Amino acid sequence: MPCILVAVILLMQNASAGPVYYKGWYHLFYQYNPDSAIWGNKIAWGHAASRDLVRWRHLPVAMSPDQWYDINGVWSGSATVLPDGRIVMLYTGSTNASVQVQCLAFPTDPSDPLLINWTKYENNPVMYPPPGVGEKDFRDPTTAWFDGSDDTWRLVIGSKDDRHAGMVMTYKTNDFINYELVPGLLHRVPGTGMWECIDLYPVGGKRGIDMTEVVAAASTNGGDDVLHVMKESSDDDRHDYYALGRYDAAKNTWTPLDADADVGIGLRYDWGKFYASKTFYDPAKKRRVLWGWVGETDSEHADVAKGWASLQVLDIFIVFFK
Ligand code: FRU
Repeated sequence: MPCILVAVILLMQNASAGPVYYKGWYHLFYQYNPDSAIWGNKIAWGHAASRDLVRWRHLPVAMSPDQWYDINGVWSGSATVLPDGRIVMLYTGSTNASVQVQCLAFPTDPSDPLLINWTKYENNPVMYPPPGVGEKDFRDPTTAWFDGSDDTWRLVIGSKDDRHAGMVMTYKTNDFINYELVPGLLHRVPGTGMWECIDLYPVGGKRGIDMTEVVAAASTNGGDDVLHVMKESSDDDRHDYYALGRYDAAKNTWTPLDADADVGIGLRYDWGKFYASKTFYDPAKKRRVLWGWVGETDSEHADVAKGWASLQVLDIFIVFFK
């Protein structure tokens, strides 16, 4: 599964919502502090759009921290495009008490291909940390996929437990307003700490690389020739780790092919400075695209002096089908 670096663009902070393709435009939402080139409690969603993933247009800030449930930051999240074309945006809000909650937003004008304005759901938040999960350890919901076995949408959220194991929880929903925690953990790896920006997606096989398509294709959830990548961003050492494994939706498990190279203790996407990445399925070109945040190595002082910080890099996965 070779990855080819195709472009580098200049933005601020990390990928917020793995980009979404809508009416001919790719949209990137990213963690952005409008006041300064440093991270802080004013984090908003910056927004840029492109027709070709190479030339980008900066757009107004998409969402600001202006509600009790996200006043300490509109943090990372993911877009899901429903079969009828509607976009559902889920993101983590840091509340006025710095509790991490999941919130919902929609495009204000779905006919606008540039998706300039966003409306937060009136009854946010839609998810609170479940019992036993730290209120600061519950963030970064993934894109949802449809599971035909019980006709629900599923998504995962990263966390850690009280023994410092990184872990992934699965939620299911019918309407994106009410969510149910699926019993058990999708995965857990001792000693790896908080897992940020989880990603879970299929690779290989003959059935394409869209999660919903793959889960629907086989009652055995993916079948023999499809593997699922699980990726987490380790808050402990700020690297992006992944492993290949098998996803079983019915059992709500993901099992690595090689337990010795499990998520967080084995492979990394990149061996330099590269973090908080996300992928999205590009329906226009039928490919998966990976975004990563390159935080650079210069000092905060240097960032403030130059007035910007961080790059977004983009990789296209070239997957060969048999
Ligand atoms: C990744 C991350 C996410 C969080 C956001 C806050 O670096 O820490 O876990 O949602 O950035 O800006």
